[in-house]
Amino acid sequence: MIEAQRLVTQLDERPLDLRGFDRPRMLLTSIVEDLKPLLELVKRPIVSARQFNRDQLLQLARLAARFETQPQLITRPLTGKILISAFYEPSTRTRLSFESAWHRLGGDIMSITDATSTGIAKGESYADIAQMLNSYGDLIVLRDANDHSVYEMLDVLRIPIINGGNGCDEHPTQALADIYALLKWNPHAFMGPDFGPPLRFGIIGIPSRMRTVRSLLLLLRHFAPAIAEIVIITDDLDPFDEHQLEDLNAAGLAIRVTDDFERELPRLDVVYQNAILWSGDGYESFGEKFRLDSEAPLKSSAIVLHPLARGPELSTSLDQTSHNWYFAQAHGAVFVRMALLSAVLKVFM
Ligand code: CP
Repeated sequence: MIEAQRLVTQLDERPLDLRGFDRPRMLLTSIVEDLKPLLELVKRPIVSARQFNRDQLLQLARLAARFETQPQLITRPLTGKILISAFYEPSTRTRLSFESAWHRLGGDIMSITDATSTGIAKGESYADIAQMLNSYGDLIVLRDANDHSVYEMLDVLRIPIINGGNGCDEHPTQALADIYALLKWNPHAFMGPDFGPPLRFGIIGIPSRMRTVRSLLLLLRHFAPAIAEIVIITDDLDPFDEHQLEDLNAAGLAIRVTDDFERELPRLDVVYQNAILWSGDGYESFGEKFRLDSEAPLKSSAIVLHPLARGPELSTSLDQTSHNWYFAQAHGAVFVRMALLSAVLKVFM
């Protein structure tokens, strides 16, 4: 009994809202429901974060918050529908959270977890595989090491496809999960009308070579008035693609690049860390030099986001601190993916 009481007290004292109720409830009351923007996503392929506008992001977040707080209202609207979960590159979170989302909506799943078990091993083209998948399911989630595979499939697909990460190009649904976490953390800062002081973001990573960072920056364009500055923390001398920085600046984002990690950290409200990048033949790890742990000189109110998987750059000593929003970020991904699937398959009404 005493032990049980101690555990309950510990749970109540936990700084993180991992039980998932209070924060999404606050988000539900902060955004007025308007499902019309989501109609533009119906039956659409989702390949890039560029496809989303601000209204869609807010409504997807609101719908995700509804799924997170009111699971008893989910009516299994995808009963009889089949998801083809095609992961030709390793994944823990994206594949399993999409599959969890689909299951929670009542659907069935066919899962490919190894390219060598498919015609890819025999040299079959992505277009031919897509031709087949048209007959087998109702929606595809694809992860692939090549930037172009999702586009090759798109040309012949008659069912929607969602990009679950394509090479070093984009990871749009990870960025949706990032935005959902940010909106839950501080809805008023992002939505106004009484914006607080604009936020300072630090992104540890390389925008031209990390798909999560590229997609997140594209979505942050829609919240530019809430952001004082984004500091890209890297020692890469050329961290942007051609036009990438100009496009982000044109959308109103003030962006600066530095490798002076220690100097920047105490001034940041949000620290987004990523360390894995795809290099064509395999993964490279980046940023051990920019290691975060519980001794890091973070603002007491700062949050740390990380798409995970983590490496030595993100110490487990941060897990039990109030800076840890990376687990809440991963937790929310299930609900934001439910919201996106519901929109694309028009089962949200
Ligand atoms: N964030 C993310 O894409 O994780 P996985 O590689 O495990 O899917």
